[in-house]
Amino acid sequence: MKIAILGGTGDLGKGLALRWAKFHDIIIGSRDENRAKAFAEDYKKVAKKRYGDEMKGSIVGYDNFHAMKASEVIVLSIPHEGLIDFIRSLRPFITSDKIIISPVVPLDKDDKCYKYAPFSINDPQSPSSIIQASAAEVISFELGSKRIVSTFHTMPAKKLCNLNLDLDCDALMASDDVKAVKLVSDLISQIPNLRPIYAGPLEVSRLLEALTPILMNLICHNNIKEPSIKIV
Ligand SMILES: NC(=O)c1ccc[n+]([C@@H]2O[C@H](COP(=O)([O-])OP(=O)(O)OC[C@H]3O[C@@H](n4cnc5c(N)ncnc54)[C@H](OP(=O)(O)O)[C@@H]3O)[C@@H](O)[C@H]2O)c1
Repeated sequence: MKIAILGGTGDLGKGLALRWAKFHDIIIGSRDENRAKAFAEDYKKVAKKRYGDEMKGSIVGYDNFHAMKASEVIVLSIPHEGLIDFIRSLRPFITSDKIIISPVVPLDKDDKCYKYAPFSINDPQSPSSIIQASAAEVISFELGSKRIVSTFHTMPAKKLCNLNLDLDCDALMASDDVKAVKLVSDLISQIPNLRPIYAGPLEVSRLLEALTPILMNLICHNNIKEPSIKIV
């Protein structure tokens, strides 16, 4: 399968690329094509060293638009700050068959703690009222697509990047599209000891994204490194 990781030059994108390259053709996307190619080369060396002849996939780099066009699955691995402008720039080129994965967590920090900072958007049902929406709902709204799966919010990039680490954690998912959930569950299951769990429709993404600031506050107040989540 061809998977584009837009913003794949960041930590989370690196982890996903290294894990999935064993089976899939990964296209690292960046705003700067040369940067994408350089990172892709680097990731490829790490993956080849780890998987050897077992590596069935590949890793290449393109600018975000080419990466997206060439792929069936697109991971939007970018910070929440630039999300809306970024999505709007992609909108004319994203076809409805693409499955979009959003790990995006909108958060804020003051001098006391991390906080969930959902987006404020006009409710499409009632344009006069503003509603709070998760990053994944904003993506769905802006693209006019239901094929969004919101997941990976509680998966620390450092753990994904360490290919010798046994993960032993869960990836909770929210989505309105049953087929997209099945496909993304299969992709998650290919990462050893990462278990996909469906948590509900896309609006549940507000709850899933809000788990990340909880974990960040745990890091600040306890001696816990890279906490993740497992449902027992
Ligand atoms: N890091 C984690 O452990 C972790 C865990 C769970 C979820 N997440 C979420 O996953 C997403 C990616 O995390 P990350 O830590 O990998 O992020 P990051 O390193 O801060 O950014 C990833 C990439 O996004 C691109 N980018 C930055 N600003 C942009 C903008 N305004 N428009 C378009 N692209 C932009 C940059 O790539 P180029 O400069 O090459 O274009 C950058 O390398 C975030 O939304 C984060 O909340 C992260």
